[in-house]
Amino acid sequence: MNIRQATVDDLISIQNCNLLDLPENYQMKYYLYHAVSWPQLSYVAEDENGKIVGYVLAKMEEDPAEVPHGHITSLSVMRTYRRLGLAEKLMTQSSKQMVEVFNAHYVSLHVRKTNRAAIGLYRDTLKFSVHEIEKKYYADGEDAYAMRLTFKEPK
Ligand code: ACO
Repeated sequence: MNIRQATVDDLISIQNCNLLDLPENYQMKYYLYHAVSWPQLSYVAEDENGKIVGYVLAKMEEDPAEVPHGHITSLSVMRTYRRLGLAEKLMTQSSKQMVEVFNAHYVSLHVRKTNRAAIGLYRDTLKFSVHEIEKKYYADGEDAYAMRLTFKEPK
């Protein structure tokens, strides 16, 4: 298994993974926007044949009034490749680049309140905490935890 930065050539495979694994889906132009705007932040996991089996799609928030911070748009690992540590590695690589390249103070994300696996990863392994609960955030009415991991305290 190999983790590497995602390229424009990976976007179709990333979109396929996303369609298989998550109900939150995006148009190709949104993937492309990530790849051209923040090429340092999105990563893929590939198997020994080069097949994409997981990805993290990430960006920087663009509001200049806020402290610089990253955001995880989407993360998934295909079912048969789970519990191998791939998501943890993808998240760690992306977060590191947010700090090194963009001076991010923290990273944020949304996760469904019932997503036990992802909450386990974010809260227990990566040490994110719940910043707030966003009621009915998802299209089907489910609430989201808005989670954050702080890299450095604002001065
Ligand atoms: N139950 C409880 N804890 C879990 C689970 C689980 N099913 N899966 C992972 N974890 C926690 C554990 O602490 C695990 O460490 P351990 O295996 O040593 O116990 C740790 O997270 C690291 O797990 P990884 O192996 O790195 O996680 P994996 O590669 O399996 O991917 C993921 C986790 C991405 C949540 C995967 O289950 C998945 O793709 N699910 C479907 C898509 C999804 O829900 N994506 C996140 C949506 S939120 C967003 O995109 C911002």
